[in-house]
Amino acid sequence: MGENTIRKAVFPAAGLGTRFLPATKAQPKEMLPLVDKPLIQYVVEETLASGIEQIIIVTGRGKNAIEDHFDISYELEHLLQERGKLKELEEIRRISELTQFAYVRQKKALGLGHAVLVARDWVDDEPFAVLLGDDIIDADVPCLRQMIEVFERYRAPVVGVMPIDGPEISRFGVIRAEPVESDVYRISDMVEKPRPEEAPSNLAIIGRYILTPDIFVELERTQPDIRGEIQLTDAMRALARQRPFYGYRFKGRRYDCGDKLGFLQATVEFALKHADISQDFRRYLKNLQLEE
Ligand code: UTP
Repeated sequence: MGENTIRKAVFPAAGLGTRFLPATKAQPKEMLPLVDKPLIQYVVEETLASGIEQIIIVTGRGKNAIEDHFDISYELEHLLQERGKLKELEEIRRISELTQFAYVRQKKALGLGHAVLVARDWVDDEPFAVLLGDDIIDADVPCLRQMIEVFERYRAPVVGVMPIDGPEISRFGVIRAEPVESDVYRISDMVEKPRPEEAPSNLAIIGRYILTPDIFVELERTQPDIRGEIQLTDAMRALARQRPFYGYRFKGRRYDCGDKLGFLQATVEFALKHADISQDFRRYLKNLQLEE
């Protein structure tokens, strides 16, 4: 197999997670567990399964737990060995051997666009992926792998999109686009959080992107919004007006785990599929006497 065209992935994880306070006061949102695994580990595993092994995590203050999670834990390994908990030991070791991570600090939470810009020197002059840990995608073929295949056909940036009907659309960046083949759209414009009646389509941008290095030039030019944040959508929008830029409607189910309801939905559905507890959990749910 030839070398993957996309070798690097950026994980912006320096946000404050205000939708999940107080749980995120002293621990990163990315470390909230879905059943028994932190959110960020699902996204790391998706990245590796897509053939990308170089990961940089953009962190901020209070995010040390992320680094510790992917590091060796001698004490814990020793203890598990001593107690003969070999299955757990194997899993703990596997996590620290997943891949080599790089870390960079975003000193102030100046927005997603700014977080991507902080990784510029590491990314250098090659196309790269950006994955948001809030978005957990359950798919037969990993979502990022599907997107790399689209990138390889068009050699242009690709954002993951999904249809959202109704007023919910105003929580997303939304594309104006023409279909070019099944599930692939050429984007002419993007609008961040439009009013439902002003949304240019029902296709919302989710937290998977394949970008080209020219995004950095745009990010440097992008003015902060009224909250003082540099938005990735603004820079992508400027780029989509200058060069081919695509949206890909991925196959799979996406959960917004940065939001309480989305997180709970993912928890229930992942628990129902989890080898250890699915049976007991299913029984428990069936016996719940839910009132209207
Ligand atoms: P969100 O919009 O979900 O913001 O960021 P948030 O701060 O994480 O969470 P809420 O909305 O306050 O609850 C989208 C992604 O961009 C990262 C976040 O970590 C998340 O993965 N991000 C956001 C940064 O890395 N830096 C920032 O300054 C802002």
